[in-house]
Amino acid sequence: MSDIIESLPPHRVMPFITEEQIQHRVQQLGNQITEDYRDVHRPLLLVGVLKGATIFLADLVRNIARPVEFDFVAISSYGKATRTSGEVRILKDLDASVAGKDVIIVEDILDTGLTLRFSYLMENIRNRHAASVCVCVLLDKPSRRQVPIEVRYCGFQIDNHFVVGYGMDYAEQYRNLPYIGIVDVSENNILAIEETRSAESERI
Ligand code: IMP
Ligand code: MG
Repeated sequence: MSDIIESLPPHRVMPFITEEQIQHRVQQLGNQITEDYRDVHRPLLLVGVLKGATIFLADLVRNIARPVEFDFVAISSYGKATRTSGEVRILKDLDASVAGKDVIIVEDILDTGLTLRFSYLMENIRNRHAASVCVCVLLDKPSRRQVPIEVRYCGFQIDNHFVVGYGMDYAEQYRNLPYIGIVDVSENNILAIEETRSAESERI
């Protein structure tokens, strides 16, 4: 275990959605998008929300069998202050024009919905005369929603777990896992980690 991960509160990552399950579902989503956007003369633009959506977007575009462009935006995450003022800033805007394009916003995970709602990302893209705008998320935690967000494409609906891997992080770690895991901080597991650690040190 690296020093960075050692410095986080004790936790364990439990396997949740396998690499095979993810790849199979991403392929289905790509096929669905290919079918839904059949007019190849209308430009299609996928907009990934940094950083969590990068891996998902990279796999998704390779499963879309028609011309497609992609771009990224960065949105400030809401803290306690922004939650009350309802302000979430767009830190990195789109590079390309969206006028006349069908746009799909690609997110890693939809939780409360506050980031998408208060960044006004969809409104912003619509105001710049996109032909259409919709949302595609790999994971959706519907039980956590605080504001309604219409999701057109969803990989998996999950219960209220904190997940990592396949682009998603815990304190910037674990984005590189090829599968999705649940971060478990329950006491039994922490004890188990400590036992493992002391067993490891006994061996040394
Ligand atoms: P929302 O604004 O509450 O919908 O949260 C959206 C963002 O929070 C996601 O795009 C993620 O970046 C982050 N997030 C929410 N839940 C998780 C999680 O379980 N693991 C990692 N990041 C998460
Ligand atoms: Mg995100």
